[in-house]
Amino acid sequence: MLTIREITALETYSVRHPVLREGKPVESCHFEGDELHSTIHLGLFINCALIGVISLFKNKNVNFTEKKQFQIRGMAVLKHHQKMGYGIKLVKEAEHIIQKYNCNLLWFNARETAVDFYKKMGYTVIGESFIIKDIGTHFVMYKKLI
Ligand SMILES: CC(C)(COP(=O)(O)OP(=O)(O)OC[C@H]1O[C@@H](n2cnc3c(N)ncnc32)[C@H](O)[C@@H]1OP(=O)(O)O)[C@@H](O)C(=O)NCCC(=O)NCCS
Repeated sequence: MLTIREITALETYSVRHPVLREGKPVESCHFEGDELHSTIHLGLFINCALIGVISLFKNKNVNFTEKKQFQIRGMAVLKHHQKMGYGIKLVKEAEHIIQKYNCNLLWFNARETAVDFYKKMGYTVIGESFIIKDIGTHFVMYKKLI
């Protein structure tokens, strides 16, 4: 059975760590703002096993004028479960949730390797690529929800 529900920041680490911070100390899984009330962490479970996570931070990007904006961070699906449609389900649920907060602008810094995944979901690149230290090349991507 597949479920998506809110989880704590700490719970995300079991997916963030192997997928996004492999070989790095577990503390590197902590993101600034993880514990804020406005931050939402979602987990996708198959039966009782957590296999995918996404976090939504209320955070503005200067490229956009919308008053309410959320930033996706920590988007990850465990390696053996990738390319099975779970990533799409998590992003769609994130879009659904932010609309409940009357927000219609989602943006994030996408890893170069994930840009095509997000493009499939209707996200657009804005601006030039940039490097995030120790992680690699990224692009700002966004979608205005209607
Ligand atoms: C990127 C990621 C979150 C996608 O999740 P996923 O569950 O594998 O994706 P889905 O199975 O829902 O894929 C949906 C579609 O995107 C495609 N896709 C998935 N990952 C892709 C990628 N990295 N590049 C290009 N296309 C990709 C799938 O093939 C599928 O296409 P289809 O509908 O034509 O079959 C996941 O692969 C992951 O955790 N990657 C490593 C960490 C990472 O890069 N996170 C994002 C940081 S910005």
